[in-house]
Amino acid sequence: MKAIPDFQKWRASERKISMLTCYDAATARILENTSVDCILVGDSCAMVVHGYDSTIHATVEMLATHTAAVRRGAPTKPIVVDMPFLSYRKGLENSIQAVATLMRAGANAVKLERCRGNLELIEHIVDGGVPVMGHLGLTPQAVNELGGYKLQGRGEHEAERLIAEAKELEDAGCFSIVLECIPAGLAKAVTEELAIPTIGIGCGPDTSGQVLVVNDMLGLDTSFKPKFVRHYARLESVVDKAVSSYCEDVVDGVFPAEGEFWD
Ligand code: KIV
Repeated sequence: MKAIPDFQKWRASERKISMLTCYDAATARILENTSVDCILVGDSCAMVVHGYDSTIHATVEMLATHTAAVRRGAPTKPIVVDMPFLSYRKGLENSIQAVATLMRAGANAVKLERCRGNLELIEHIVDGGVPVMGHLGLTPQAVNELGGYKLQGRGEHEAERLIAEAKELEDAGCFSIVLECIPAGLAKAVTEELAIPTIGIGCGPDTSGQVLVVNDMLGLDTSFKPKFVRHYARLESVVDKAVSSYCEDVVDGVFPAEGEFWD
């Protein structure tokens, strides 16, 4: 059975780490029987599942509900859950309460975005026995400050700042850091600077592992195809065909057929 401390082992042996988001019990049940190393209940669920236009709409209650569902579907996988927008900027006591809610819902670790202003809280959470994953680069909760979902860490100054922040997160006790949408060369440099593993999304091949949004890699919305997403399936057209066939069969009176009902 895999667990959060394995991240350090995998980093030391340079074994690549696979992580996927997941938000519901049905998908989690499938992931449970795959070799994926870790599940992320990302605040992307606000967009992917709830249809909002940003992750700002995610709440602790929303993430706790999805975490509990994922835990029921995937009883043995390590689960990291995102601390939603501003839930970790409400003072130590309230922030720790949010951590407790998410952990009791079934998480094994929490993830929070950015470095500045978060180090004391990260140390406090880690001291409390809860593993923390950092998140640098494109941090979607700060979309309004960043002016959109754009590549980050461009230019020498930005790159130096990002490397410095990654080290600060490591020193504060993070067990791993997600790097999102930064140039591949910078992601490689950050990874080489750290003893903890980096998990990349849109950062090229030289991070310690990769993470993708499960709906994206399964091709559930093929109109959404950023450069860094690979469609490992095109479930949108599979579902479309299945539903069309079902509707035709109902209209033609050939569903249900013999053997599909009780006499
Ligand atoms: O919420 C999320 O899905 C994430 C990943 C993109 C890393 O934070």
